[in-house]
Amino acid sequence: MSSKEIIRVENLTVAFGSFKAVDGISFDVKRGEIFGFLGANGAGKTTTIRTICGLLNPSSGKVFVDGKDVSSDTTALKPHIGYMSQKFTLYKDLTIKENMEFAGALYNMKAADIKKKIKVLADFIKLEFDENSIVADLPGGVKQMVSLCATLLHEPDLVFLDEPTAGVSPQTRADFWGLIKDLSGRGTTVFVTTHYMDEASYCGRIVLMSAGKIVAVGTPEELVENNFPKPFAELVFKDARAVEKIKTEINASVFARAENYGAGLRAEIIDNGRFKIFSADNKNIFEIKTSAPTLEDVFLKLVS
Ligand SMILES: Nc1ncnc2c1ncn2[C@@H]1O[C@H](COP(=O)(O)OP(=O)(O)OP(=O)(O)O)[C@@H](O)[C@H]1O
Ligand SMILES: [Mg+2]
Repeated sequence: MSSKEIIRVENLTVAFGSFKAVDGISFDVKRGEIFGFLGANGAGKTTTIRTICGLLNPSSGKVFVDGKDVSSDTTALKPHIGYMSQKFTLYKDLTIKENMEFAGALYNMKAADIKKKIKVLADFIKLEFDENSIVADLPGGVKQMVSLCATLLHEPDLVFLDEPTAGVSPQTRADFWGLIKDLSGRGTTVFVTTHYMDEASYCGRIVLMSAGKIVAVGTPEELVENNFPKPFAELVFKDARAVEKIKTEINASVFARAENYGAGLRAEIIDNGRFKIFSADNKNIFEIKTSAPTLEDVFLKLVS
């Protein structure tokens, strides 16, 4: 393994009984990158993360972290890995401080080091809550921030964040991504799952999974360009009632995937020449704008 790669997954399959939750996937994660792991519910994201962290055994295939096979060498890797689980894992009836002390004790950290690190992390995360607050009383976004603190306490250089921003406010999502970028800037590798496509665009590279298999891998820009080499069109019609009729009549050699968009249509152009003729001929068109394809379009095309 080259020293640039911190994770190498080779032909990994993880089965529960006869069901393959992860089905023969291979990918690398480079040291220091923000690596996005996307896919619909049940695609196999959490199962993959748990296997890389050594919490599940591969049914077949290999996983290497920092060059070491995780099936045989988990103890040595543990101090280097931080895992913020999709399930909330803090103790709700304990205070922030008590949760941190517990998290630190799991990594054999000394009480004085934990105290120092809580202060550093609270500054990094800009946590404006008294460390003696009971976790159950905190707003959802703050709970997620405290979970992140607990994950970072032992200074791991590889961090797994499994849907860290699920159900939190747009402001907290933005704050969280600011922290993820800071972590990556300091050399920490961040492996993150999300269902928000705007967040996926902040990742250096993305793997898109569907039903246990990888359906695409690349930078956000590559995924968009490879799947949609031409722009989309947004069409507004003079008579909005005509939209459904026009949608069914739209020539499949001009457009693919015409979807309702506001009072009009948004459609993938597949032939620029025919699109120009269609635009000039159609007297019901009020306005045509081109529209850039997005990661959301890629997700809908490859995963839905
Ligand atoms: N311990 C288990 N036993 C049996 N089936 C499991 C187990 N863990 C996961 N699965 C199944 O494996 C599939 C993949 O689950 P996984 O949790 O990895 O998906 P995911 O991509 O993380 O989904 P989500 O976006 O909902 O978190 C699902 O069908 C799930 O029900
Ligand atoms: Mg999951």
